[in-house]
Amino acid sequence: MRTRVGIIGAGPAGLLLSHLLHRAGVESVVLESRDREYVQNRQRAGVVEHGVAEVLRATGLGGRMDAEGFVHDGIELRFDGHGFRVDFPALTGRNVVIWPQTEIVKDLIAQRLADGGAIEFGAKATSIEGATTDRPRVRFLRGDTEEVLDCDVVVACDGFHGIGRQALPEDVIQTYDRVYPFSWLGILADVPPSYEELIYANHERGFALGSMRSSEVSRLYLQVPNDDSADNWSDEQIWDELSARFALRDSDWSLARGTITDKSITPMRSFVTEPMRHGRLFLAGDAAHIVPPTGAKGLNLAMRDVTLLSEALTAYFGSGDETGLNSYSADALRRVWRAEHFSYWMTTLLHRAGDRDPFDHKLQLSHLHFIAGSTAAATQLAENYTGLPSV
Ligand code: APR
Ligand code: PHB
Repeated sequence: MRTRVGIIGAGPAGLLLSHLLHRAGVESVVLESRDREYVQNRQRAGVVEHGVAEVLRATGLGGRMDAEGFVHDGIELRFDGHGFRVDFPALTGRNVVIWPQTEIVKDLIAQRLADGGAIEFGAKATSIEGATTDRPRVRFLRGDTEEVLDCDVVVACDGFHGIGRQALPEDVIQTYDRVYPFSWLGILADVPPSYEELIYANHERGFALGSMRSSEVSRLYLQVPNDDSADNWSDEQIWDELSARFALRDSDWSLARGTITDKSITPMRSFVTEPMRHGRLFLAGDAAHIVPPTGAKGLNLAMRDVTLLSEALTAYFGSGDETGLNSYSADALRRVWRAEHFSYWMTTLLHRAGDRDPFDHKLQLSHLHFIAGSTAAATQLAENYTGLPSV
């Protein structure tokens, strides 16, 4: 098989890249190790930054998002028994759209197939060869049979556990890593959300987040120790703990409970690989960087990487102009590090660190009160959360 751009991975990064390239007249093939069903049903976050929503709308993918997603003009920070709303449009002129990643992936797959695009499901990339030549190739397995995809350029969008990153030589690559001493226990529940906007709660007992998947389905998270297991938690314990962490003083608000349909544990990690290019091999999305989910940046970073890369590849294949390809890694990493800092900051502001002393909690509360009382402090959060137009 031969193509211009060989893309490994049919997550949001790989799929959006092939869609953007198609619109610019550049051919690509996507290799995906899993089947379509699996890819379309993975449970992931769903906060779409203002600018990313604009990209989806501008490229014909905004229809269902605008009809079924929710525009959110703020989030609530809950601490010390009080709620404070961060008003995004008032502070930044922007908002976010709550639209699950699974739905974005479904739309992207349907659109690529309707456009005659090549997504090879059940095709597991095993090696990338000739990254520094002008004919890189990807070897992949379909069942037990090895096949080869010859390309002009290879883009590894194969997530954190993919093979793309490993194809960069050790003396070229630099990685930065931070593992946090806590995880999230996430649940899906068949109950209408008891809140209109997301609630991020800092509580003595640990962080809690109230999110949603639809007007009928709530998505909620609790901070738990790293060695915890979802089996350690009964449904009643989960609801009791969520209610305790979201409790408001001087209010009759309460958290509505419903049937829990899914429970899982997510570890928290920050990770960056530099550079995001080696010869004709490019990295995008989780293949190059991971953020803890507190700032909801993972999906957005993946989409921003490939928007930048598709423009660079279009210029290259259109007129041989390599400027964009040459600056891709540095340009993408500027945004990546902004999101890394923001996610780390949100995480540190809201979680209870293992055996921390009360001094840390006092500092967190002071910072939260500062955000509630200072337009400048609230604006920083709002700018980062809704996505900075240029970094
Ligand atoms: N060959 C083919 N496909 C592979 C291989 C391989 N060797 N290794 C991994 N893949 C596929 C995975 O099955 C997955 O479908 O690559 C895809 C990577 O997708 P994601 O992990 O969703 O990564 P990305 O597209 O960068 O999107 C990042 O996903 O993890 C979330 O929070 C993260 O929202 C962010 C987004
Ligand atoms: C989610 O809806 O899964 C979600 C929302 C916001 C976050 C993280 C996860 O910060």
